[in-house]
Amino acid sequence: MIKKCLFPVAGYGTRFLPATKAMPKEILPIVNKPLVQYGVEEASEAGISEFGFVTGRGKRAIEDHFDISYELEHQIAGSGKEDLLTSIRDLINNNTFAFTRQNEMKGLGHAILTGRNLIGDSPFAVILADDFCVAEDGDDGVLAQMVKLYKQFRCSIVAIEEVPEDQTHKYGVIKGEAMKDGLYRITDMVEKPAPEDAPSNLAIIGRYILTPDIFEILERTPAGKNGEVQITDALLEQARTGCVLAYQFRGRRFDCGSIDGFVEATNHVYEHIYKAGKK
Ligand code: G1P
Repeated sequence: MIKKCLFPVAGYGTRFLPATKAMPKEILPIVNKPLVQYGVEEASEAGISEFGFVTGRGKRAIEDHFDISYELEHQIAGSGKEDLLTSIRDLINNNTFAFTRQNEMKGLGHAILTGRNLIGDSPFAVILADDFCVAEDGDDGVLAQMVKLYKQFRCSIVAIEEVPEDQTHKYGVIKGEAMKDGLYRITDMVEKPAPEDAPSNLAIIGRYILTPDIFEILERTPAGKNGEVQITDALLEQARTGCVLAYQFRGRRFDCGSIDGFVEATNHVYEHIYKAGKK
């Protein structure tokens, strides 16, 4: 039912300079796989098969990653290294990848609106690849958990987690009425509030399911925090006129937009996934 996922990937990744001078931050590897590929795999496990990327200048490597490299494959054919390409080859063979460019950096809301022509008129998922999520052993991934909820409630859903009070300024923060364990109906949400203005310590992380009416709302959403069009503001309108849910997911999330989170994610994947031979 949710068949499409949008990846806003136009950001510069300045926190990782000089690594990101000529390479998109989404291509930085966690052990041996680019960050963005983990996101695509998570969505694929949730039943999604059509991927849209909102890219920008200097992001060609993402398009190349999700395309066949005939020279490389020819080169390693029969060398015993072919297995290393299996995961990406499977994704390429079983899914479609489409790209559009955001030529001005006007915020996450603007990036999502730019992806409208790749999405059309169906509910869709959004993954921010910087937020790297791992499931508990044997459990569904975060997006798969959200897709299940969508089937039940048919409205926009954001993933949330508790953050320390002094971290609220980095996130969209929600206020909600608890419906059941870990599930809230949003009554208010604020983009990157100072601790004293935060309505709670429940922060939105980079997993969304959005109903397509979000595009019309985004079209008329004025620039908000930091002069950017914020998806948080558009979702607040949806919450006030309809329903938006916030879901405290199972699993663990690493903030790979920061050096500390990136290193933690790398250590985690190396110990628990790579060395354990899971992928
Ligand atoms: C964006 C959203 C914010 C959300 C965060 C999750 O912010 O605007 O509401 O909490 O992603 O990572 P960004 O990190 O792009 O500044």
